[in-house]
Amino acid sequence: MPERRLLLEHSGDPEYRTIEGYEKTGGYQGLRKAVTMDRQAVIDEIKKSGLRGRGGAGFPTWIKWNGIEKEKTKPHYILCNADEGEPGTFKDKELMENCPHLVIEGMIIAGWATQGDKGYIYIRGEFVDCARSIKRAIDEAYAKGYLGKNILGTGWDFDIYVHLGAGSYECGEESALMSSLMGERGMPRLKFPHAPLPTVAGLWDCPTVINNVETYACAPFIIQNGGEWYATLGASTKNSRGTKIFSVSGHVNRPGNYEVEFGTTLMELLEMAGGMKGGELKACVPGGSSVPILNREMTEKAVIGYEEMVEAGSMVGSGGCMFLNEHTCIVTFIWRTALFYARESCGKCTPCREGTTWMVQILERIREGAGKPDDIELLRDITKMIDGRSFCGLGDAAAWPVAAALRVFPEEFEYYIGHGRSIVQSPEGLAMMPESDLARV
Ligand SMILES: Cc1cc2nc3c(=O)[nH]c(=O)nc-3n(C[C@H](O)[C@H](O)[C@H](O)COP(=O)(O)O)c2cc1C
Ligand code: SF4
Repeated sequence: MPERRLLLEHSGDPEYRTIEGYEKTGGYQGLRKAVTMDRQAVIDEIKKSGLRGRGGAGFPTWIKWNGIEKEKTKPHYILCNADEGEPGTFKDKELMENCPHLVIEGMIIAGWATQGDKGYIYIRGEFVDCARSIKRAIDEAYAKGYLGKNILGTGWDFDIYVHLGAGSYECGEESALMSSLMGERGMPRLKFPHAPLPTVAGLWDCPTVINNVETYACAPFIIQNGGEWYATLGASTKNSRGTKIFSVSGHVNRPGNYEVEFGTTLMELLEMAGGMKGGELKACVPGGSSVPILNREMTEKAVIGYEEMVEAGSMVGSGGCMFLNEHTCIVTFIWRTALFYARESCGKCTPCREGTTWMVQILERIREGAGKPDDIELLRDITKMIDGRSFCGLGDAAAWPVAAALRVFPEEFEYYIGHGRSIVQSPEGLAMMPESDLARV
């Protein structure tokens, strides 16, 4: 399948960032339609569309929106997760910079559907340009009556505020994000079933919808064209509908964001990105650095869909798709990934705090040429002790890449331990290694 630009159709057009340019392309028609509809009817359209959260977990969006109390007793909040911390993922950045009104319109539609009072968009601290673009769009939306008091003459008031994070990956985890937004330490909280869902008690213990930037950006299209129309996209897959933006990086000729219909294959995505650069395809991490790595054969068979990608051995995740060529040392790649998660661990729970550090220490030992034959089994055991036993999803995210690399590329670890150096000894592979590593090979 070719690229299918729905959300990103006008992304390259600077006029699209302005409210006038956005309106010319049909912008805010979804909201205009939504406010003529019963709130429940809006949620029903989202249900028909089959939209699933684009932040990583693929949870059905309508269930969240429908979970907000109908008989209002407290303020309702609409929260946009714009922290985008997963390595390899940069799609929300493009949406916020180039299509800010799409995100804002989606949040206002969610606000209408759930009787929202205030919206917050929690933007990754480093994304200063995104914050500027979003802030400008919010100001324009106020001036046109899409935000503020008595929106489009409905008597409904809704405001949106921008909040900049401080560059912590953990603050993308929804409960940590809410803590951070409320001025507390960015650490996760106890979750359902041990604590109420955010839709019941989220921000300031009030009903809260929290969705990813891309999830909200889908809503205007769904309401404008109908849920059934949206569900025709991706209909060849089991249960994935619409389009998904993949941030393609690694050894490809044209890295960037590519929007595809579910049902597209990973090899088609690679073709869109100009094919492999500097060598043959060796591996692919399709959904952000936390998802399991695929080897070449697995990549060649993989179809993009939430269930299909699991069958292929990985996950859609956040859509940060890294293609790696034959000169990549998998041990080094996984060490670098493990180091990221160890550094970002908030330290609240033992399996993740200790386990992520142990994994890095063992991988460093292997890379220093001092690996022991038992290290492979030891690493495997540690991943099992972290996965499913940590307080929040960061622990799982840290364990999966290591466990998958040991499963899919065992020979790379065995070779490193046996020979004290990487299996990759080509000049291209060595050229890719940092100076400090070259001293060791
Ligand atoms: C450690 C960690 C980091 C996360 N970072 C992000 C993030 O940067 N952006 C995001 O949308 N979701 C992130 N998530 C997922 C959120 O917790 C949450 O599932 C998501 O915002 C829900 O939105 P959705 O249903 O629209 O996908 C993260 C999860 C974990 C465990
Ligand atoms: S898994 Fe535990 S230590 Fe790791 S980030 Fe979550 S709460 Fe913090």
